[in-house]
Amino acid sequence: MIRENNGCHCQQASEQELMARLDEVLEQYKHKPGALIPVLQMAQGIFGYLPEVAMKRIALVLSKSYSEVAGVVSFYSFFSTIPRGQHLVRVCLGTACYVRGGARVLEAIKQHLGVDVGQTTPDKMFTLEVARCFGACGLAPVITIDDDVHHRVKANRVEDVLAKYREQEHEPARRKP
Ligand code: FES
Repeated sequence: MIRENNGCHCQQASEQELMARLDEVLEQYKHKPGALIPVLQMAQGIFGYLPEVAMKRIALVLSKSYSEVAGVVSFYSFFSTIPRGQHLVRVCLGTACYVRGGARVLEAIKQHLGVDVGQTTPDKMFTLEVARCFGACGLAPVITIDDDVHHRVKANRVEDVLAKYREQEHEPARRKP
């Protein structure tokens, strides 16, 4: 499973700084075969999403057409061309999760965050998406938040799960060992 780094604090850096970071990545990868997807993943980690300006730079440096890059981005659900929140919440709606309450979990998260699937909360804290299967069906229903996998999630506990991520943002010192 390809992981995303959605926890960057991108808004603190200017677009120029972010583009400079992207250029460093491109410098490392421009002669490597099969570089497009890893570069796109890193670009998404840098920007928090894939803006058009970044995709154009990637196409130029990797000698690909913009339409090829845009096609790859639209093919894979883990890429996003719209800004995401600080934390990416993904609810599995694969068969095992669905029959064990995944839809109820999704509904509870939608209610709690006040957003629909594909939307970001007004405070830019959470983006909500759905997925088909995380490969942990025996522990359904499953949700992921960034790189964390939460098993056997109950609809009436989603508030507690999400609260931990809010606390992390407000008390950064606690995250440090
Ligand atoms: S169906 Fe949800 S983890 Fe497989």
